This record gives sequence, C-alpha cells and structure tokens, in this order.
Amino acid sequence: MNQFHLFPPDASTAAQQIDRIFFSLTALTFLVCAIVFLPIIFFSVKYRRNSKADRSNPRFESLLVESGWVVVPLLIFIGLFGWGTIVYFHLERPPRDALQVQVVAKQWMWKLQHAEGKQEINELHVPVGRNIALTMTSQDVIHSFFVPAFRVKQDVVPGKYTGEWFKPTRTGEYHLFCSQYCGTDHSRMIGRVVVMEPAEYERWLKTGESTQSITLAGERLFRERGCSGCHSVNSKFHAPLLEGFYGKSAPLETGELVAVNERYVRDSILLPGKEIAKGYQNIMPSYAGQLSEEEIMQLIAYLKSIGNQNPEEAGATPPSRPAEK
Ligand code: CUA
Repeated sequence: MNQFHLFPPDASTAAQQIDRIFFSLTALTFLVCAIVFLPIIFFSVKYRRNSKADRSNPRFESLLVESGWVVVPLLIFIGLFGWGTIVYFHLERPPRDALQVQVVAKQWMWKLQHAEGKQEINELHVPVGRNIALTMTSQDVIHSFFVPAFRVKQDVVPGKYTGEWFKPTRTGEYHLFCSQYCGTDHSRMIGRVVVMEPAEYERWLKTGESTQSITLAGERLFRERGCSGCHSVNSKFHAPLLEGFYGKSAPLETGELVAVNERYVRDSILLPGKEIAKGYQNIMPSYAGQLSEEEIMQLIAYLKSIGNQNPEEAGATPPSRPAEK
C-alpha cells in the first residue's frame, strides 16, 4: 500500500478498454509533439545565426502535402473520438445478467447491500469474472463511487439513482474512494473492494447472520407499510395493481407516457402527487421521511421481481415471479 504506483492496477474489463484508449492517445500526443518539435530543433540549429545554410527561400507549393497534414490528423483524431464513444456507450449500459448491489452513501460511509440481503459497510465483496451492477443513491450530499483499479467513477446523488457496473478480472483487494468533496471527513470516506473466486464468494455470502433477500425484504415492507392494503385486487381504494407493472410504460393523467423504472417508483413513493397514473386519483399519502433509502430500494427490488420480466416487449408476456433462492 505504501509503494508508489504511477498507474493503478487494471482489474476490470473496463480498465483494459480505457487504458488502451489512454495509452494510444498518449502515444499519439508524443508522436505529434515529435513531429512539431524535432524540426524546430533541427531548423534552429541549421539556421542559427552565422550558419552558412542556404537562405534563398524558393517557393514550394503542394496541394497533396497541405491537404495531407489537415486530413490525416483529422481522421486519426475523429477515429479516436469514435473509439472513445463506443467504449463510453458500452460502459454506460449495464449488462442484463449483472449481479445487483445497492449502494447508499452518507457522510461519511458507504452502505452496500447484495441482492441476497447481505449488507456491508465500506467494503464490497464481489466474485471475479462476473458483471456487477451498482444502483446508488445518497442520503445527504453528493458523493462519488470511485474504484481506480476498475476505472469506474460515478457521482452518487441525493434524490436520484445513478448506476455503475464493472467486471473484475483478477482477485485481490482494491481501493474504494469517495471522489466528490462531501464535508469534513471526505478524505476518510474510503473502503475496499474485495474480488474473490466465485466459490469463495458464495461461502462468504453465507457467513454472518442470516439475511433475507432484498426482494423478500421489499415484499415484507410492501405488506407492513400498508402498500398492499390499497395496491391489491380486493382493496376498497382505487389504486393501480403493481403485478407486471415495473418495466412497462404507463400512461399518466396528463396524457404522457412514463417508463416505470426506479426513478418513477421512487418518485411515486415519495411524491405521489407528481405523476398520477391515468384513471386514478391523487389519494396516496407521501412516504417521504418514513422510509430509509435502503427500504425504498428494497421496495423497488420487490416491484421489479413482480414486474414485467421482458421490458423490451412491454406488455407482450404475462408477469411471472422469479424463483427465490
Ligand atoms: Cu463522500 Cu466525499
């Protein structure tokens, strides 16, 4: 830990992709520098004062040379831009088979929960070779989840969800930093990511007190906090049924269509009057201040589990309940 490293280790697929771009850009920059500065040095020696060089300066014109030095660098750098864009889009779209981890940041710690229910603070254990997707929010101010070895960094913002994903390629322990200044102890808001062999990870998941999965915890909240009282077939209140709802697009009273995603569910819980579903009334009480960020994430996980399992073909298939482990 106390050795000095010029570059962090590369421990994820993204790290390799980003490093390739970074080093190509660096090499290209050195090349361009050399093309500019080597002739400068050469000419300043050749045409130094009192040198006997020929200074007659004959006219020389070549369209090929002139257009060449405009077009070739342009193409190279546009190519680099295209390359960066492809990698960026790849990194912005979490793969669908990713293991889900919920992250709640607060001054000054990271609280993490695995789909199986296991919770951690300032530590994240993950299996090597698997895609890991984080859904993150903050309880107070803006933080940023930064793992240099994976080359991923994403702001964690109160009131909304942001995501980040990576696929670790080698086992080991890596630094986790908060990379947005978030108050007095910002510099101590650090932790570690432990990448383990899959079998070891499975064993680790089962250590400690037994936990219920995020989905089950969400289902329990759904009953205990009274959601099921209204959002059910035999409710005397007229509230939307939520089976098969998540992952679709839903019409609003205003005539707009809205995607039923984490953002929409979260807002519907905290600000129920904001987007009224078509055909319903604004009668739901707000749960702002009554549910923790973790609990909201659990409720969303539950709605997801009873939601539309094929968001691409919205409405085409009846919802099915995934098997609980
Ligand atoms: Cu949290 Cu800096």
